[in-house]
Amino acid sequence: MQIKWSRWVKMWSGVLLTLWLCSSLEGKENSFTINSIRMESLPKWDLKNGQNLTLQCIVDISTTSPTRPQHLMLFYKDDVMFYNVSSTENMESYFIPQVRVYDSGKYKCTVILNSKEKTTVEYEVLVRGVPNPRMTLDKKEVTEGGIVTVNCSVEEEKAPINFSIEKFSLETKNIKRTRTKNSQNQNFVTLEFPIEEQDHILMFRCRAMIIHGVRVESSELVKSELVTVRESFSIPKFHISPAGLITEGDPLHIKCTIQVPYQTQAFPEIIIQKGKMIVAHSEHSSEAVYSVMATVEQNGNYTCKVEARRISKVSSIVLNITELFSKPKLESSTTLLDEGESLSLWCTIPGAPQANFTIQKGSLNVTHAQNFTKVASKRDSGTYTCVAGIGNVVKRSNEVQITVCEMLSQIRIFHDTRSEVIKGQSVAIYCQSTNGTSPIYYQLLKANKVLGSLQKDSNNPAVFHDNPTKDTEYQCIADNCHSHTEIISEVLKVKVIAPVDEVKLAILLNEEVESGETIKLECSVNEGTGPITFKFYRENEDKPFYYTSSNITQAIWQKPKASKEQEGQYYCTAINRANIARDIPRSNMLTVRVFLAPWMKGLIAVIVIGVIIAALVAGARYYSLKKSKAKQMPVEMSRPAVPLLNSNNEKILSDSNTEANSHYGYDEDVGNHAMKPLNENKEPLNSDVEYTEVEVSAPEPHRALEMKGTETVYSEIRKADPALQTAARPFRSVGLVLQQCPREGKRRCLERTSVWGLEKGWTQNHVSLLRVE
Ligand SMILES: *[C@@H]1O[C@H](CO)[C@@H](O)[C@H](O)[C@H]1NC(C)=O
Ligand SMILES: *[C@@H]1O[C@H](CO)[C@@H](O)[C@H](O)[C@H]1NC(C)=O
Ligand SMILES: *[C@@H]1O[C@H](CO)[C@@H](O)[C@H](O)[C@H]1NC(C)=O
Ligand SMILES: *[C@@H]1O[C@H](CO)[C@@H](O)[C@H](O)[C@H]1NC(C)=O
Ligand SMILES: *[C@@H]1O[C@H](CO)[C@@H](O)[C@H](O)[C@H]1NC(C)=O
Ligand SMILES: *[C@@H]1O[C@H](CO)[C@@H](O)[C@H](O)[C@H]1NC(C)=O
Ligand SMILES: *[C@@H]1O[C@H](CO)[C@@H](O)[C@H](O)[C@H]1NC(C)=O
Ligand SMILES: *[C@@H]1O[C@H](CO)[C@@H](O)[C@H](O)[C@H]1NC(C)=O
Ligand SMILES: *[C@@H]1O[C@H](CO)[C@@H](O)[C@H](O)[C@H]1NC(C)=O
Ligand SMILES: *[C@@H]1O[C@H](CO)[C@@H](O)[C@H](O)[C@H]1NC(C)=O
Ligand SMILES: *[C@@H]1O[C@H](CO)[C@@H](O)[C@H](O)[C@H]1NC(C)=O
Repeated sequence: MQIKWSRWVKMWSGVLLTLWLCSSLEGKENSFTINSIRMESLPKWDLKNGQNLTLQCIVDISTTSPTRPQHLMLFYKDDVMFYNVSSTENMESYFIPQVRVYDSGKYKCTVILNSKEKTTVEYEVLVRGVPNPRMTLDKKEVTEGGIVTVNCSVEEEKAPINFSIEKFSLETKNIKRTRTKNSQNQNFVTLEFPIEEQDHILMFRCRAMIIHGVRVESSELVKSELVTVRESFSIPKFHISPAGLITEGDPLHIKCTIQVPYQTQAFPEIIIQKGKMIVAHSEHSSEAVYSVMATVEQNGNYTCKVEARRISKVSSIVLNITELFSKPKLESSTTLLDEGESLSLWCTIPGAPQANFTIQKGSLNVTHAQNFTKVASKRDSGTYTCVAGIGNVVKRSNEVQITVCEMLSQIRIFHDTRSEVIKGQSVAIYCQSTNGTSPIYYQLLKANKVLGSLQKDSNNPAVFHDNPTKDTEYQCIADNCHSHTEIISEVLKVKVIAPVDEVKLAILLNEEVESGETIKLECSVNEGTGPITFKFYRENEDKPFYYTSSNITQAIWQKPKASKEQEGQYYCTAINRANIARDIPRSNMLTVRVFLAPWMKGLIAVIVIGVIIAALVAGARYYSLKKSKAKQMPVEMSRPAVPLLNSNNEKILSDSNTEANSHYGYDEDVGNHAMKPLNENKEPLNSDVEYTEVEVSAPEPHRALEMKGTETVYSEIRKADPALQTAARPFRSVGLVLQQCPREGKRRCLERTSVWGLEKGWTQNHVSLLRVE
């Protein structure tokens, strides 16, 4: 029994456990899954505008639960949620009454169950067509020039909408104007239509278009009510008087009239035009009149225009006036004739009716006859016409151009002589014939060749430009309409001044000049018109030593008996009036050498020897003289040597014109060979050789006792300017020292003088003369 009970307990506890497990499983862990989700459209996806649409979202869910789970359904249009619903149903719907184009788009739905979610694919809803627009007009009756405002709207749809409105003429069945407008924010547009003169019965038509994606949905073309147009004024009408055939000379009236509504206040403007010209107009009446005497000039197309603000009405008429007589014809014997020849003009009318004729030159009456003949003069040139009149009809003929040609006078040829013609510069040559009919054709001849030609339309001079390089002869030739052959002017000689060019300095005869010979320098120019001023310079000297003016291209400077002084460097300049003063042409630098002639060297040697002999003799005399004098004049002898400042200027070398810049006198101390220069300032500058007398007394008493007297010794010494004493330089100065030596010792004194000179760098040649008195 116990076993059975335990078995029962065991069995039921197992069942209970199973039931508990089962019940706990069912309450907590209900399993579910979304099998599928899709959308349906009722009646279909592709709809007509205005149809009712039901969108359905259908979901299939599997679950372990006996009850249907609560889930959320979301509806999207173009990814934007527009509807949600919590439901336990398999299907949820969304109703759109009367779909519009803006309902078109991509739809989808989503189901959310706890953490699970599933979305359908996208379904496209297409709405076709646009509801018919409504039209309203602001008026049903309008006058020409007025405006009709048209309102076209599609209230069911949303902007943006394109509207297209047509103005339609019922009479002509023409679309007179179409206007389209895109309304971005409103579902209507209002457009204004001006009413034109040809409009009578009008209608407006409107179509609405909506763009969706790439598709354009459009409505039908909707018609408006009719609009009737009233005329503001009638089409203008012409009235011509006289009626019928119009002949020249008749009074002609061209009238244009219009009809206006009875109550009109303001009249439109009426204009009568012939071609582009307004011949009559009126602003305050219903007609305009053009009155004129009829002539063939009035033939043509006349237009009458009537204009109000926007309205313009036009009509036209062609007038054909019968000619009374033809246009007269003026003829001439010739149109170009020489002065003195006969000129004839005659005027004719075809058919030769009786008429009054006047021949005019410009506005001047020449004759009241039909024919005109005269001997032509220059003044008769001009434009001639003929005026013929029958009754009061006057007609003007063609124009005849008559040229009476005056012969050319002698041609004047000239140029501006105020300034000379310089080579390389332009010169203006003038040709002028003061009398003679222009145009005058000028030619300029240069050396019998045509240089240029010009035509002048007046008697002013013709100007030719030329660049002559040498003296040139010019001539002018002139010709005009006169039958006389061309005439030629006199010859104009133009002198051309050539500026100095390429200055050269050359030495003529010999390049190395022997002293005593002639130096001949030639300054020449390659080119240049005289007079040319030549200037000769020595190097480093500002002033020329010689200048001359010459009519030929060279100048010569010569120096006979050249000496060493003339050695040096030379250049020259040349200038004439064609050169610029600032830029004086200058020659090359030329070196001139002067050498001593052999006979001169010999002469100098002879003189030196002679001087030495004379000095010895003088020295001996002096010695004996001093000896005797020493006894008489002890004071004088004891006195130190004093230079004798008295200078006797005397020219001894006549061929020398160089300057002696300074001159020295020397104090000879017998015992002491010191020499002091004399005061230089006291010596005037002199270009001549100078003699200076120097008295020398013996300083030594023991010697002085032996001296018998003094003796004056003249020694001429060429002093060399040490600064210039280079091989090529000439001596700058020549001096003569007059020196008194005692009779005894004279020889020594003289020797000393020459020794002193030699010490100073002189050569034997420098001592040219030594004399004893
Ligand atoms: C469209 O739905 C409206 C109600 O919203 C209803 O009155 C109408 O009859 C429906 N039209 C059609 C064609 O079913
Ligand atoms: C569902 O729609 C209501 C209003 O209709 C809105 O308040 C709510 O947030 C929506 N729920 C979801 C999940 O979008
Ligand atoms: C044009 O017509 C629509 C509806 O017919 C109206 O709402 C709108 O105000 C009108 N617009 C004008 C300028 O009259
Ligand atoms: C609508 O109007 C806009 C602007 O006037 C124009 O560019 C466009 O082409 C129009 N669309 C249609 C379909 O007429
Ligand atoms: C006259 O001129 C008007 C306006 O210029 C033109 O329309 C018309 O055809 C012309 N008539 C004749 C006959 O030339
Ligand atoms: C004008 O009338 C004449 C005849 O009277 C005729 O020969 C001529 O052709 C007409 N001219 C025009 C432009 O009509
Ligand atoms: C020239 O002749 C015309 C008639 O042909 C006349 O009307 C006019 O007055 C004359 N002019 C002068 C200046 O004489
Ligand atoms: C005018 O000249 C033309 C031509 O020279 C001639 O035939 C005519 O008879 C002349 N008339 C008069 C009135 O002199
Ligand atoms: C010519 O002129 C005179 C005077 O002006 C006039 O009496 C005569 O009728 C005219 N002749 C013609 C043909 O016009
Ligand atoms: C040039 O014309 C003037 C008047 O224009 C005249 O006085 C002069 O005699 C004429 N000279 C020659 C040479 O014909
Ligand atoms: C140069 O020529 C001019 C004119 O031909 C003359 O007047 C002058 O005397 C001449 N001069 C010399 C230096 O021959």
